[in-house]
Amino acid sequence: MRRLCERLDSEIFSSCRGMRMLTTGFWPRLFEAKRRSLYEMDGVGKFRGFRRTMPGVLDSDVARLPVAGSGMGWWRASGAILLSVPLALTCGCNASANAKPVGVAVAIRAPLGLPPVPIPAHNPPTASSIALGRKLFYDTKLSKDNSLSCASCHHPKSGFTDARERSTGVGGTTGLRHAPTLVNVAYSPLYFWDGRAKSLEAQVDSPIADALEMNQTHSASVTKLRADPLYKSLFRSAFGTDDINMSRVENALASFERTILSGNSAFDNYQYEGRKEALSPAQIKGLAVFKDPQKGNCAACHTIGPHYALFTDGEFHNTGEGVGDNEDFSDLGRFQITNLDAERGAFKTPTLRNVAMTGPYMHDGKLKTLKAVVDFYAGRGNSNTYLDKRISTIALSGRERSDLVEFLKSLTGEIPSNVGPPGRD
Ligand code: HEC
Ligand code: HEC
Repeated sequence: MRRLCERLDSEIFSSCRGMRMLTTGFWPRLFEAKRRSLYEMDGVGKFRGFRRTMPGVLDSDVARLPVAGSGMGWWRASGAILLSVPLALTCGCNASANAKPVGVAVAIRAPLGLPPVPIPAHNPPTASSIALGRKLFYDTKLSKDNSLSCASCHHPKSGFTDARERSTGVGGTTGLRHAPTLVNVAYSPLYFWDGRAKSLEAQVDSPIADALEMNQTHSASVTKLRADPLYKSLFRSAFGTDDINMSRVENALASFERTILSGNSAFDNYQYEGRKEALSPAQIKGLAVFKDPQKGNCAACHTIGPHYALFTDGEFHNTGEGVGDNEDFSDLGRFQITNLDAERGAFKTPTLRNVAMTGPYMHDGKLKTLKAVVDFYAGRGNSNTYLDKRISTIALSGRERSDLVEFLKSLTGEIPSNVGPPGRD
């Protein structure tokens, strides 16, 4: 019986892979186009709402995410049923159903300053799938020698980064890039600094198997999790049966990651609630420098919209970071994925939310402080043929630079109390 189940499991898993390939066609393009519209709408007009434009995405205004100290599970607080129209992603088998959470879907409430959280139709979050994802996120079982969890490199204390220049994997290996924050990762249209993963679900496979990160095969991960009776019951309550497979691990982790939201910062209160006292005079001046096309021009890429601000356009740009003399690129970034010359040395614009907590900065972690980043931009990044044309030399006085740094500090927002290690809400 067990053998049969395992075979079925692996067949379902490979059908899922097939489905994923299949889904590189029309539906994901539609999905991505809609996700991208989130960025395009930002700054140009009124947010039109997802429910009308995109099946499978709920209007998160229904529920309220309690903040640290409220002591209440937010799914209980929300209790809202997912009202979205499911986008039927079928693959001629039961694969998506096998990894689709069962039970009542919950609304993930976006805090002040953030748009509704995009949810893929094949993975509606439930209280159980989020709780399972949270446990997996903090579990070292997903690494070869049980030494690392996702949180080792994305720790809440460091704003869901690891405070290192480049990450350290199993056995002390040094990774190739700096770990980005996972704050507001739900809104990203593509994942990794070079955008090589198309969804949060798809992203999960990579760190677990990566030799420079957790370095554990998927079959070893599944075997370890299956040996734990607690996981069996957690997978059963999340997915209806106690099968443990990678598709389910991916879906649970992705749903948990979608709850790592940060908004309601001093900036949001100033910008979207009209509380002028929320920012200090220096921060207000810093915001002006940030937005002014003749000064910082930062908002050209770190977008601020009329109703919410992600502080990223979700696009890839060459800022010159990591480019040496003679234009030798230490990392070709997006070019490695698209092979487009224009994208040599281009990296995904990171969000600036909670940026005061997430140093060191940039894909290579080379800039240690916010002041160093501001000085870098003021000097027009590093010149090279592919430098984004929105990066130009800017005359910023010492005061304007420190105002800009002060402003960046106002982006530290509230993180929900229930995204830390399980059992410590
Ligand atoms: C050894 C450190 C390390 C571990 C462990 C690790 N990550 Fe990462 N993570 C990174 C680094 C480094 C990157 C950037 C890699 C790149 O862009 O090429 C990254 C990128 C990501 C991203 C993309 C974020 C974005 O904005 O594009 C997500 C999501 C993510 N990790 C989630 C996870 C999850 C989930 C786990 C556990 C299954 C995990 N990570 C384990 C270091 C780590
Ligand atoms: C052309 C688009 C663009 C403009 C304009 C721009 N940025 Fe960036 N920003 C990026 C990209 C892309 C990265 C990542 C670069 C890398 O890692 O190599 C980045 C990285 C950063 C980081 C590091 C965040 C982290 O988590 O590592 C900070 C801070 C930052 N920018 C602030 C600013 C400020 C302040 C301004 C204005 C003075 C500005 N940016 C203007 C695109 C832009």
